[in-house]
Amino acid sequence: MGKHVRHMHRGEYLEPTAVALLGQPLAFIHEDHLRERQICTLIDGIAHGAMPETDAVSAVLCFLTIELPLHLKDEEEDLFPLLRRRCEPEDEIEKVIAKLLKDHGHADEDTPQVVAILEDLANEARAPKQGEKDMLLAYAAHSRRHLILENAIILPFARLRLTETDLETLYIRMCQRRGLKSLKDPRDA
Ligand SMILES: [Fe+2]
Ligand SMILES: [Fe+2]
Repeated sequence: MGKHVRHMHRGEYLEPTAVALLGQPLAFIHEDHLRERQICTLIDGIAHGAMPETDAVSAVLCFLTIELPLHLKDEEEDLFPLLRRRCEPEDEIEKVIAKLLKDHGHADEDTPQVVAILEDLANEARAPKQGEKDMLLAYAAHSRRHLILENAIILPFARLRLTETDLETLYIRMCQRRGLKSLKDPRDA
């Protein structure tokens, strides 16, 4: 791994978020965001690097193809609807959610292109061409802006407004989405 990764406390977020944390669903989502930020740093490193590092490309591909789709569903299907139900009109959460959903739509379009670029770089063991580099950097920058908004507004309102029952619902839904049958295990861990 190169300089980029060592700067990031290597290993800390290079693995998917631990399922044991699902018992605290908002903490799990926050960890997913930390992981996503590290993935953005890896994408930047790949964009600037002369040669893609296998571990970095694998980590990014794992995140983009497995973890990110689950995370987007956690937000779109559960977290955002719960917030819509619980927030007060003066919270003006609807505007924020509308913006975030638009971002998710862009991510749905752009992620397959980024995956294809990364697979090409790995298969052909070469540095990105200018167009690929631009695409990777733009994708990471867009993802970072999205994360900032969610961390600054969505998670604080979720901590403030969601009830214990909401959090239980979120927990169960996030477990089901990950095919976890034994709902007790992660919470007890
Ligand atoms: Fe998110
Ligand atoms: Fe999101």
